Amino acid sequence: MNIIKVSNYEELSRRAAELIAAQVWNKPNCVLGLATGSTPIGTYKELVRMNKSGDLDFSKVTTVNLDEYVGLDGSNDQSYRYFMNDNLFNHVNIDKANTHVPNGKAADLAAEGARYDAFIESLGGTDIQLLGIGHDGHIGFNEPDDVFYKATHEVKLDEMTIKANARFFANEDEVPKTAITMGMWAIMQAKKVLLIANGMDKKEIVEKAFFGPVTPKVPASILQCHKDVTVIYTY
Ligand code: GLP
Repeated sequence: MNIIKVSNYEELSRRAAELIAAQVWNKPNCVLGLATGSTPIGTYKELVRMNKSGDLDFSKVTTVNLDEYVGLDGSNDQSYRYFMNDNLFNHVNIDKANTHVPNGKAADLAAEGARYDAFIESLGGTDIQLLGIGHDGHIGFNEPDDVFYKATHEVKLDEMTIKANARFFANEDEVPKTAITMGMWAIMQAKKVLLIANGMDKKEIVEKAFFGPVTPKVPASILQCHKDVTVIYTY
């Protein structure tokens, strides 16, 4: 595990973007696993800057996102599809047909999960998976539980997650109570994992996840079992 402490958010964003860009330079038709949340916004800005200056070509890249709220479609500005379009895809030369987010409007979410995992398997897994981390240790929307969930699945969001994500909605009541998220199988298929964490409020959970026991009570702790993980954090 490669744990890098940097001095501020700008440096975190630049270092994370450089690792993702290096992946695209090495393999132009690579598969990027992408994440939402406030933490990767700076990373995406940096990737957009590199694309605009002609240093980074997304034309052959495929992306798969971690998760989506149940019940929101891509035109809803709180959906993760909208977030990805708005923060990255609309500003780079990626073919939108090659960008994938689980369908939160699927009538049968279990079938949607199985389809998503089969699709990720058909791609051979992601080349690099970007992750943030929730205050309760969640990755994607894999919340603390008694077990690790393997498949892409529907999940009931924790109170803490609903409260944390309420800042993006008009009020807490509008935050969807369920989501569909990649499970641990798809995340652990990544050839490389890059987790980014920003702020004093994430210090304790980062320490628990990477220096504590591997437990589904701290979902990110499973990454201690992955062979190529980089954690970049600042507080
Ligand atoms: C959300 C996302 C996660 C993200 C987490 C942390 O719940 N599903 O993928 O890592 O929030 O978000 P932030 O970066 O805003 O702290």
